[in-house]
Amino acid sequence: MSMWNKSIGIIGTGKFLPDNIVTNKDIEKMVDTSDEWIRERTGIEERCIAPEGLNTSDMAVEAAKAAIADAGLSVDDIDCIIVATMTPDMNIPSTACLVQAKLGADKAAGFDLHIACSGYIYSLITAVSYINSGLFKNVLVIGAEIMSRVLNWKDRSTCILFGDGAGACIVSEVPEGYGMLSMDMGINGGAGMNLTIPASGVAMIPTDARAAEGLTYLHMNGPEVYKFAVRTMGKTVINALDKIHLTVEDLDFFIPHQANKRIIDSAAHRLKLPAEKVFINLPKYGNTTAASIAIALDEALHSGLIKRGDIVAMAGFGAGLSWGSLIAKWY
Ligand code: ACO
Repeated sequence: MSMWNKSIGIIGTGKFLPDNIVTNKDIEKMVDTSDEWIRERTGIEERCIAPEGLNTSDMAVEAAKAAIADAGLSVDDIDCIIVATMTPDMNIPSTACLVQAKLGADKAAGFDLHIACSGYIYSLITAVSYINSGLFKNVLVIGAEIMSRVLNWKDRSTCILFGDGAGACIVSEVPEGYGMLSMDMGINGGAGMNLTIPASGVAMIPTDARAAEGLTYLHMNGPEVYKFAVRTMGKTVINALDKIHLTVEDLDFFIPHQANKRIIDSAAHRLKLPAEKVFINLPKYGNTTAASIAIALDEALHSGLIKRGDIVAMAGFGAGLSWGSLIAKWY
């Protein structure tokens, strides 16, 4: 019942979070907001913020090392590195190239995949498809972000929402009958400007003057993105389940993108999933964009919440606007 010919799954995971924690109370001192408002409207209590000198590739490397060890592999076993990020160290070289050099993964190819919060799901689907085609054996997939450096810390509608971190996993063949079963993915570029960093490319080169106007920071139409998210998150899971003739009743566990507790609760409600089947670590980390599902998956696995044979759904949404989901039978 899999969309792919081979049985391909995740054989190891890892994460890295900076140890510098910024609480809602700390943010109260920066902008006109309150701990109570942030908790009530988002569910977020605190987030990890990378200190100066620590970059996206550094966090990606730490998460990758943990995932490689967890899978029982060595760096020489990795033949492709995909880094999902919207906050690369720099435009070129790709973060994957920086990670490859820092890891010493000399046999690996690699590239960055840039679709914001949906990036980890898109990267997993890419990895599975590469392995299915026979091109690669072990693909290292990383979601890593330093959102704190693209936020306007004077804009209370965005700066409260995000955090920094990295999560990684190794995608490989698994015993027959386990692994990835189905996926769904899509974009709606027509609504894309609801979530943008205007001066971040060649259409509007980031200059000091534009930075002073706030154009080099994330701009978001929160209510529009919210409506899109609650409509999309449950729907993409149902689309993926439909393709393999499963229903929500077959799901043992759901790992949603961690953007806002109200969005997660609404998706769970639409899917009629009880709270104990839905993983939430948003209060500790905020929205870590492409790293969010990767970190959540690592924590869910290492706290024993996912067991072999469980049917697990993962779903993300974000800038683009974009969305994606995966259904797996856990190995
Ligand atoms: N503290 C206090 N008040 C605030 C804050 C704040 N931090 N932020 C906004 N407000 C105020 C607004 O100014 C507004 O006041 P007004 O009524 O006097 O004008 C009021 O609160 C309500 O504002 P809304 O924007 O309508 O608040 P909402 O309930 O929609 O919550 C939020 C805002 C949390 C941003 C919500 O819209 C949301 O979560 N949106 C989706 C965000 C998301 O998931 N983004 C994904 C991005 S991922 C990626 O790809 C990068």
